[in-house]
Amino acid sequence: MKLFYASLLALMLSPLQSFGAAAKCELAVQSGIDANGKPNPMAFNVKSIEVPASCKKFKITLENKSTLPKTAMGHNLVVAEAGKMAAVTAAAMKAGIKNEYLQKGSGEITATKLLGPSEKDSVTLVVANLKKGSAYKFFCTFPGHSAMMQGDLSVK
Ligand code: CO
Repeated sequence: MKLFYASLLALMLSPLQSFGAAAKCELAVQSGIDANGKPNPMAFNVKSIEVPASCKKFKITLENKSTLPKTAMGHNLVVAEAGKMAAVTAAAMKAGIKNEYLQKGSGEITATKLLGPSEKDSVTLVVANLKKGSAYKFFCTFPGHSAMMQGDLSVK
């Protein structure tokens, strides 16, 4: 009988344990805040993103904490292979504000909308479509921002 209760207890606990050990498959990123939590109009508060290989999907939510108007200091979060970042940002500049500084199909894997103050948007990466060991970047395609607003993204 004691053994029965012990196994029942183990059964009841196991979902909790696996929940606790599960990888976190989402991340909140803020723009307008630097990595030290200080206001900075042209920064992300995250410098690198590690996507757990055990996640099927990985959701990134960008929240813009900047107080400046979208046309002057809008921010987005675009993910691409590291080698395509320059091409994506150059195409975005040509696309202009009327296209919210993104030329769709220029090499981005995914992109949020261009955000004004206090706006939020999310993107979802399909982890199986990313290669473990490959270098990816997340960055903002508002002209001139990607020098400061960028970080590494990888699957671990
Ligand atoms: Co920006």
